[in-house]
Amino acid sequence: MADKPATPTDRPQWRTLAQHKQELAQTTMRDLFTQDPERARRYLVEGAGLALDFSRNRITDATLSALIELANACGLEQRRSALFAGDIVNLTENRPALHTALRQRRDTDVRVNGQNIVPEIRATLDRMEQLVSAVHAGKHAGHTGKAFTDVVSIGIGGSFLGPKLVVEALKPFWQGNLRCHFVANIDGTDITETLAGLNPETTLFLVQSKSFQTQETLENSLIARQWFVDNGGTKAAVATHFLAVTANVTEATKFGIAPGNIFPMWDWVGGRYSLWSAIGLPIALTLGMDHFRGLLDGAYAMDCHFRDQPAGRNLPVVMAMLSIWYNNFWGAESHAVLPYDEYLKHLPEHLQQLDMESNGKRVTQNGQDVTCQTGPVLWGGVGANGQHAYHQLIHQGTRLIPADFIIPLQSHNRVGHHHAILFANCLSQSRAMMAGKSRTEAEQELIDSGMDVSSAKALAPHKTIPGNQPSNILMMQKLTPQTLGALIALYEHRTFVQSVIWDLDCFDQWGVELGKQIGNEILPLLLGEEKAGSAGDSATDHLIQRFRSANKCP
Ligand code: F6P
Repeated sequence: MADKPATPTDRPQWRTLAQHKQELAQTTMRDLFTQDPERARRYLVEGAGLALDFSRNRITDATLSALIELANACGLEQRRSALFAGDIVNLTENRPALHTALRQRRDTDVRVNGQNIVPEIRATLDRMEQLVSAVHAGKHAGHTGKAFTDVVSIGIGGSFLGPKLVVEALKPFWQGNLRCHFVANIDGTDITETLAGLNPETTLFLVQSKSFQTQETLENSLIARQWFVDNGGTKAAVATHFLAVTANVTEATKFGIAPGNIFPMWDWVGGRYSLWSAIGLPIALTLGMDHFRGLLDGAYAMDCHFRDQPAGRNLPVVMAMLSIWYNNFWGAESHAVLPYDEYLKHLPEHLQQLDMESNGKRVTQNGQDVTCQTGPVLWGGVGANGQHAYHQLIHQGTRLIPADFIIPLQSHNRVGHHHAILFANCLSQSRAMMAGKSRTEAEQELIDSGMDVSSAKALAPHKTIPGNQPSNILMMQKLTPQTLGALIALYEHRTFVQSVIWDLDCFDQWGVELGKQIGNEILPLLLGEEKAGSAGDSATDHLIQRFRSANKCP
């Protein structure tokens, strides 16, 4: 057994990187490009239909080697093998994390408690296929015999963000006439506005909850069921109009969902890694099963790439280690994901849960305090819109903000020169972040435009852009089920690699529990079921009182 240091920062490889950062501190990316005309070609890796240009980073070959040495010292290879093999990698919940098994080939053998789980996964896919065909053909129809026109997926967190991202991102691949709607929030506006335009006779509901205990999902499902019954549906017809995806069959059955309409979830799949399971039913219903399988194929291709490629040519490893570099050695506090593709507008939201719920942790796997920063704040939005909003801060603010630009080479919508303009914007942003504009250049530019020297000197500081802001450009030929599957799996593995470096359990999420617990204590106080003034702190008591007065509670 390799020596296990108390924390990641105790490792000699960590100290080497800290020292190396000091040596690189005065070198700019501009210098690096000048020194090496081959840099763009050398810092490009490809896999699973994706290509990553990572040349615009504050790195040299020595940096990459040192980062890979750190990854090796942290046991990346062993931890990755354990992940794929179905070992217990989620230690605090005593479970494997087998999202990779969900996209495995039919003939593979992945064991949990001695049992091969692949046949059950494939059987579930077959059941999904039967349902999708029956709904598309109007054979599984509403209680009055009319074909379904709308699907309402009720779920939150991982039971919502991934499916929503994929459904919206793959609009050019939609099949059939089903429109898919998502309800997640406990704000009554969400379900009210969603149901407002729908016909109960032709609406199919999917209750998506691994636990079947999530307050938001259960409350919204009860409202949906009531709406259905109040608008011509019968209690018996609930069995036709409501399906569930859950690991809690008992509670789903109590809700009134027919056993044949309950699709399984397994405790070895984490919520934020679950879009590949039956939680992907909104995707399969909207896109058809072939495209759903295409999505799985893309993710599988990325799994193979991640498992087999050497660290320096391995997309998730390279991206993860670059993020570690900035987060832990350069003090970056956030990471921007900037898709230059309107279809990917929900990607940052999905990645926020994936990354921040996975790596927003402060103790190592054995419960010791970490001694370095862990997961950065992940944020972002689509380009070019962001350029007219927050890019100012990236270019001239005081913070270091590494960014991933994501762009397909071809668009699904050929409109004038739009895609060339979009691409130009993406390249220009990455270049501007890297090259910036020096004070001298800014001053000279103003003088050349006819400004007098003293005015140019006064204005130049405002027009100076320091540059040296790192970014990756991630490309694909076109956004398809396969490339999207690969892209999402890439970020899943990137998240995992980072957790290995920080020695975190990236598959639990205990931090979200306290808020739920306190919320359950506050609710009866708001409803007047319990005596006001007992919430535990005066600030909460005061606001409970305001709520009760505003809502005329006794
Ligand atoms: O509150 C966080 C969380 O537990 C997520 O991890 C999960 O994806 C989400 O809630 C929904 O959980 P469920 O699918 O059990 O309703």
